[in-house]
Amino acid sequence: MMNKENIPKHIAVIMDGNGRWAKQRGKSRVFGHKNGVVAVNDFVECSAEIGVKYLTLYAFSSENWNRPDYEVNALMQLLVVTIKKEIDKLNKNNIRLQVIGDVESLPSKTRKILLEAIKSTENNDRMTLILALSYSSKWEIMEAVKSIAKKVENNEISSDQVTEELFEQHLNTSDYPDPELLIRTSGENRISNFLLWQIAYSELYFTDKLWPDMRKADLIDAIEDYQSRERRFGKTSEQIESA
Ligand code: FPP
Repeated sequence: MMNKENIPKHIAVIMDGNGRWAKQRGKSRVFGHKNGVVAVNDFVECSAEIGVKYLTLYAFSSENWNRPDYEVNALMQLLVVTIKKEIDKLNKNNIRLQVIGDVESLPSKTRKILLEAIKSTENNDRMTLILALSYSSKWEIMEAVKSIAKKVENNEISSDQVTEELFEQHLNTSDYPDPELLIRTSGENRISNFLLWQIAYSELYFTDKLWPDMRKADLIDAIEDYQSRERRFGKTSEQIESA
């Protein structure tokens, strides 16, 4: 049974396996992505219902630009259509949309609708849905390093003011807590350049299910698994128990 008192505040998801799901059905990879949206809706709804405050979805990595043009274009188009379709529902459900990643690199149509949706939902406070788009963690970390280096160079800060806290303030995720739980689907046990800094103490959950097959019950399964673990943050069990 899921413990309603111990819901992760932030869940991050690597949505993997759309291509294989489509291939199993003799369809194009794009068919898999379209069906992936069904799982996205389920995860967003379920997360809001059970009181998750932040849900981050890895929708498009920096490396995904290397896929065939038709697939990249279809994904960008799918984002436009889906965001357009879902803005009202996000507002009705009091969900705020945010983005992490290199927004400038997105096609102008995708960027435009995304920024519109972010603006239109900015005051919602039940849950924050964060899309990682054209995102990679090494890119994000390098951007932070460069902007801190610039500040040191311009004598705005001194090098001994460069602390973990300052570094975190320069990440795209500066407004969000670190995820307690990271889920990856499709049987791949990798992190693939996702939130490397932020998952230092996250619990990792891997499932063989392909992303388009994921439903609310699968999210609950992942949360129950998370709840069965003991998070020690480098301390001993005894220290945790007596705290
Ligand atoms: C990985 O599967 C999935 C992606 C690269 C895209 C994810 C996008 C969506 C689920 C749809 C749009 C999202 C939103 C938020 C509206 P893969 O193609 O790598 O699958 P494979 O490993 O089986 O080839």
